[in-house]
Amino acid sequence: MSSEQQWMPAPQPGLYSEPGIHAHYCEMQLHPAAANADIRQALASALLAVADCYVAVAFGADAWDRLQPDWRPADLQPFATLQGQYRMPSTQTDLLFWIHGEDRGEVMAAVIHINQCLAPYADIQRDVSGFKNRESRDLTGFVDGTANPKEQQRIIASQIAAGQPGAGGSYVFSQLWRHKLEAFQQLPLQQQEGVIGRTRDDNIELQGDDMPADSHVSRTDLKVDGVALKIYRRSTPYYRAADDRGLFFICFASELRRISLQLESMVGAGDDGLADRLMQYSTPLSGSYWFMPAQADLLQLLKES
Ligand code: HEM
Repeated sequence: MSSEQQWMPAPQPGLYSEPGIHAHYCEMQLHPAAANADIRQALASALLAVADCYVAVAFGADAWDRLQPDWRPADLQPFATLQGQYRMPSTQTDLLFWIHGEDRGEVMAAVIHINQCLAPYADIQRDVSGFKNRESRDLTGFVDGTANPKEQQRIIASQIAAGQPGAGGSYVFSQLWRHKLEAFQQLPLQQQEGVIGRTRDDNIELQGDDMPADSHVSRTDLKVDGVALKIYRRSTPYYRAADDRGLFFICFASELRRISLQLESMVGAGDDGLADRLMQYSTPLSGSYWFMPAQADLLQLLKES
C-alpha cells in the first residue's frame, strides 16, 4: 500500500478552521519535579472542559520524551538560536497551547481555565493574544496567508505523512515578532512592496525584475530539487503596548526542514549572501519548535499512567 493510500489520523481540532478571529498563544515550562501522571491529568482537565473555541496543544522535544517515552516523530528537536546576518533567538520551552475561535470571551475563558489547570505544574513563559486584522492584513498593511496551500496540498504541507511515526501530527514553529512599524511606514509604498514581494492594496505577487531577490516572498518560497516546500501558516497580529506590537507567527509542517530552510534563508545563513529584507523592519523575540500530535496520539499520551 502506498503512503497516499494509508489512513491519515485526524489532527487536533481547529488546525484548518480559518480564520480564527481571536487567537491566544501560551508557552509553558514544566516544573522538573512535577510527576508526569499529574501533568497528564492536568492536560486532560485543561483540554476537556473547553466550550466554544478550539484548543490544540503541542510539545517541545524534552516534554514529548518525558510524557511519551515510547516513540517520537523523526525530526523533533528543540529550536537552536539561528545566527546569520540577522539573529533568531531560541526561547524553547515545553508546552504550547494554541487557542482560537470567533468569540473573544470564549477564547479567554479557555485560556484562564487552561492556566488554572497547569499552574501547579508549569510556569507561563509567553502569553500573547492575537486578532484577525482587516482582510487578514498584518499590521504592516499587507495581507498575510495568501500563498497558504489549499485542500490536499495543505494536508501534504502540514501533516506528517501516513505510515510515519507521528502521522497526522505536525511540526510547529512559533515566533513572536515585534514590528518597527514607523520605519516600515516611512518607506515609499513601492519599497514596502519590494520588502514583502507583493503589492499592498490588491495583493498581487511581484513579477520578474520587480521581485527583489531579498524580498520576504523570495526568501520563503523555496524549492528543493524542483519541489516546492510549502508550510501552512496561521499567524495573527498582536498588540500589547504602543511600542510592542507585531505578529505572532505560527506555522505547521509535515517535515521540520520545510521550516528550518525558510528560517535559514531569512536570517541570511546560506551561501547566496542574501537575507530577508523584512528583518530590517521586524525583530524576532522568541523561537520554538513543537510537535502537535494527531488527536488519537494525544489521547493515548493522556491515558499513559
Ligand atoms: C514579521 C514576521 C512576518 C511577517 C510580517 C510576514 C508576512 C508575510 C506576508 C505579508 C506574506 C505575503 C502573503 C502570503 O502569501 O501570505 C508572507 C508570505 C510568506 N511567509 Fe511570511 N511573514 C513573517 C514571518 C515569516 C516566517 C518566520 C516564515 C517562515 C518560517 C514565513 C513564511 C512565509 C511563507 C512560506 C510565505 C509564502 C511565500 C510564497 O510561497 O509566496 N513568514 N509573509
